[in-house]
Amino acid sequence: MDVYGLIGNPVGHSLSPPMHEAGYEECGIDARYVTFEPPKGEGAAAVEAAATLDVAGLNVTVPFKQDVLDAVDPAPLADRIGAVNTIDFATDPPTGYNTDAAGATRALESHGVDLSGRAVVVGAGGAGRAVAFGLADADMTVAIANRTEEKAHDLAADVPDATGHGLDTLGDLVADADVLVNATTVGMKEDQSPVPADALHGGLAVLDAVYDPIETRLLRDAADAGATTVDGAWMLLYQGVETFETWTGVDAPAEPMNDALRARL
Ligand code: ATR
Repeated sequence: MDVYGLIGNPVGHSLSPPMHEAGYEECGIDARYVTFEPPKGEGAAAVEAAATLDVAGLNVTVPFKQDVLDAVDPAPLADRIGAVNTIDFATDPPTGYNTDAAGATRALESHGVDLSGRAVVVGAGGAGRAVAFGLADADMTVAIANRTEEKAHDLAADVPDATGHGLDTLGDLVADADVLVNATTVGMKEDQSPVPADALHGGLAVLDAVYDPIETRLLRDAADAGATTVDGAWMLLYQGVETFETWTGVDAPAEPMNDALRARL
């Protein structure tokens, strides 16, 4: 039996175990997916311990996504993003991947969204960074807007063809955009949107990385404006799908994985 897992702190509420185990069951893979909560600052040590214990793969979440870079050989995209969320122990040293970028692009593509033209990413934290690289690598022209404008400029300097902005110009950016992604925490728990509702339009596809609640104010406003909407559980699913395929080499069964995920939301 193979053991896969997740390190995070805190890790308690993770939806990844049921999602991945639904995939193993569907594919007849003899594996389990478990969660670990190492002390903060011990991410690299946890990766070394997992290698010793013959763990086959680890997901990595907050606050360890940068820490584990010291314990892995990062794949090119993870190296550019500067964060690892998936580790494969088939190599020595283990290889570090970032599947958050594919989580966003595959979520959009699964809804028939064409990844060309202009994208606006709101947020320049960890999630915004991965999403901006994903959309730019798909050949979109990416505008990054962030409350702390300097962070948007810093991120834009790393992402091909991207520009950085404050939130004051968000309405104008969105009016000209084909794709909009919320990669801030706004809308989580409270009924607020980071984007003025009157800037939304029917030519947009809107992905909200927030999945709690599943229907955010931004997605409601976007649906009212006639936009295509993609909720945050799709991004979580396709991040998991990409990870599953990285670990097993088998096409991931997205439907049962999605069912397992949504049953717990
Ligand atoms: P994550 O890993 O989920 O991206 P993060 O790295 O802490 O989390 O980033 C949170 C993002 O949400 C940032 O872009 C943050 O903006 P700042 O860089 O200005 O802090 C954004 N954010 C959080 N609360 C916000 C708010 N009330 N209004 C606008 N943006 C907010």
